[in-house]
Amino acid sequence: MMDAWPGMGKETNMELHITCIPGDGIGPEIIAEAKKVLEKVAACYGHQMVFTDILMGGASIDAYGVPLTEESIQTARAADAVLMGSIGGDTTRSPWYKLPPNLRPEAGLLAIRKALNLFANLRPAVLYEELAAACPLKEEISRAGFDMLIMRELTGGLYFGERKTVEENGVRKAIDTLTYDENEIRRIAVKGFDIARKRRKKVTSVDKANVLDSSRLWRKVVEEVAADYPDVKLEHMLVDNCAMQLVKDPAQFDVILTENMFGDILSDEASMVTGSIGMLSSASLNDSKFGLYEPSHGSAPDIAGQDIANPIATVLSAAMMLRYSFDLDREADAIEAAVKQVLKEGYRTGDIHSSGCKKVGCSEMGSLLAERIR
Ligand code: IPM
Ligand code: MG
Repeated sequence: MMDAWPGMGKETNMELHITCIPGDGIGPEIIAEAKKVLEKVAACYGHQMVFTDILMGGASIDAYGVPLTEESIQTARAADAVLMGSIGGDTTRSPWYKLPPNLRPEAGLLAIRKALNLFANLRPAVLYEELAAACPLKEEISRAGFDMLIMRELTGGLYFGERKTVEENGVRKAIDTLTYDENEIRRIAVKGFDIARKRRKKVTSVDKANVLDSSRLWRKVVEEVAADYPDVKLEHMLVDNCAMQLVKDPAQFDVILTENMFGDILSDEASMVTGSIGMLSSASLNDSKFGLYEPSHGSAPDIAGQDIANPIATVLSAAMMLRYSFDLDREADAIEAAVKQVLKEGYRTGDIHSSGCKKVGCSEMGSLLAERIR
């Protein structure tokens, strides 16, 4: 048997160059656990992990006065992939938020997305069978389960349009602009349809075409792209309706394809609906195999440094990294199987704990996962 043991096969002895961004809040703790799991994967499957850490967000502001240095961007660019924890702090209390907007932690994240051309943001929202009780929806709705992927455009729209604050005749006025050209829409639509083809072959394109020109162009271009994918079903949905449908009937969704701002909002809603945001991974990809992988949740400064954060979303982001940037499907499967196994055995961090389960901290959860990598 050619495939009789792990590490046997053509993708062995790979040297994986990974830039890590521990970041702020719980970021350093969850990245440490993801590294632990990746080291175990490397040992089992005969690869070598070469990690290089860079600072971003508040940690970079404290060290260098800016949320991301040019040197850090270069380090990230030189790697095969980037694995990130989380950035940012308490926006009402942290001194970082007294700085001008372009020097705050989030500016580092926006800068790295743009610098590395990470235009396609994949955010899966899955209802885990073992955690179904945590789902805030009525049982008659959650019973059907759901497994959707939000494909969010990440380098255009309101986030990167021209903006300014002016004063006219003593009245303060702020302007943000929402711009998309057809090429930006086409490349994200192609990614959306490609991924739908590997899933349940349905794309729900979300826009506000009853009001916005950018949405009307979005709809047209998505339809043009759809012509090349006759096997994938396309439907259009207005964003306000989508917000309702996510809580009314989440099982209807496979791939949700949408622009930057709508995707930001809908992906938070979708993750909340799973009841287990500490479990959700994400990937931000460019045109090649390069990507930045991070949990869907934030930096949770209120629980930082207490060893109680849930590292699973970061560990699953590392699995996505192995799958999308390195084509290491078996290794990614091994991580996902370890997560399922640990949940089945009843281990839970505080955020997903329910009575009868065994409560563990962040580093113990990481160790349990690493031990179950086969
Ligand atoms: C996200 C976050 C970021 C965004 C913030 C931190 C700038 O909310 O990744 O969803 O709005 O894109
Ligand atoms: Mg967000």
